[in-house]
Amino acid sequence: MTTVLGLRCRECSRLFPDEALHVCDFCFGPLEVNYDYDAIAALTTRASIAQGPRSIWRYANLLPVADENPVSLGAGFTPLVRAERLGAELGLKDLWIKDDTANPTGSFKDRVVSVALTKARQLGFKVAACASTGNLANSVAAHAARAGMSSMVLIPSNLEQAKILMTTVYGGEVIAVDGTYDDVNRLCAELTSERPSWAFVNVNVRSYYAEGSKTLAFEIAEQLGWQAPDHVVVPIASGSQLTKIAKGFKELSLVGLLDGEPSVRISGAQAKGCSPVATAFEKNIDAIAPVKPDTIAKSLAIGNPADGYYALDAIRTSGGSCGSVSDDEIIEGIKLLARTEGIFAETAGGVTIATLASLAQRGIIKPDERTVAIVSGHGLKTVEALAGHTAPTHIIAPTLDAFDKAVGFSDPNFQ
Ligand SMILES: Cc1ncc(COP(=O)(O)O)c(C=O)c1O
Ligand SMILES: [Zn+2]
Repeated sequence: MTTVLGLRCRECSRLFPDEALHVCDFCFGPLEVNYDYDAIAALTTRASIAQGPRSIWRYANLLPVADENPVSLGAGFTPLVRAERLGAELGLKDLWIKDDTANPTGSFKDRVVSVALTKARQLGFKVAACASTGNLANSVAAHAARAGMSSMVLIPSNLEQAKILMTTVYGGEVIAVDGTYDDVNRLCAELTSERPSWAFVNVNVRSYYAEGSKTLAFEIAEQLGWQAPDHVVVPIASGSQLTKIAKGFKELSLVGLLDGEPSVRISGAQAKGCSPVATAFEKNIDAIAPVKPDTIAKSLAIGNPADGYYALDAIRTSGGSCGSVSDDEIIEGIKLLARTEGIFAETAGGVTIATLASLAQRGIIKPDERTVAIVSGHGLKTVEALAGHTAPTHIIAPTLDAFDKAVGFSDPNFQ
């Protein structure tokens, strides 16, 4: 049973039907899914959720599509890891990592794509399309293959090798565009009117797609015993994920699933080479000035973020902050997380961890706050970023003598 009432304009609140619409034709504001929260509350208990699948679909009542057989590779219900060693290094006593590297194609995008393609299939679309900075491309191609849909994926041509390979292997069409993500996105906006029978997951079905990110908030709360954390650190590209994590905690409270009133501070993380939201936050202004990205965090390289304004608003109203970090700090962040917690993140994860470190150091995240950092993509996707930054400790001949000469006996860690 669907709990969706329709779509609603985020700006003027006008109502629209439950269809593939994404912009208000009165004020051009973005449309958002509008739910019947009384119906959700009546249908949903902690126990009913616990009986659901170990995937995002355990929260189906809070998602914009009801389907007995969703398009799924098993996204979601990823580990929430207590990060004691990383916390000790950063002076944070109650730190957790939401490890979304564990998703089927290695990033949180599997959450949004599973929702988008389930909805697209219900609406009668046969083609799944997207503009992507890489992870969305991987996920759309894979989920389209699972659903038996055709896929048409557009990416900037300078993406990391693994991201291109992980898209092409699924057999869909992959169009590499000589330009930035913002160029690709503009082209896709034009294509959306030219090819109305294609579901561009982050354009004409964006209102549904975006809802998938709420499941990060749902899972974090459930994994903490139905309590909201005090602080969440979220990487920002378009700003959609951050906005929807904020919405997710509010919805859980609205339908009575949380212990107490949530008061979650949400902080954003960007790369210095593409930090339009962090810049607006630091300058204390509302206008987000587009930038031309130049950073190793290619997955976050959106110079003109569609949901930047809403992300900024969610950060400010929650009492959070927004920081940006250099490419060197991103690499240090990747290595720090790997060394302390055994989790290998892509550059976006490096952005999150480095920003977490900086916010902790500046006293913006308090040592006692229960803090969750979203690590949203797997490190094997961006190995180029580490070139020259990792190497074997020694290279030796295959003899005991060579081993002893290289390693010796004095290191106390190896006694
Ligand atoms: C790994 C990773 N993390 C975070 C993001 C940011 O997502 P959003 O565009 O919803 O801000 C992206 C976007 O592509 C991503 O690939
Ligand atoms: Zn409107």
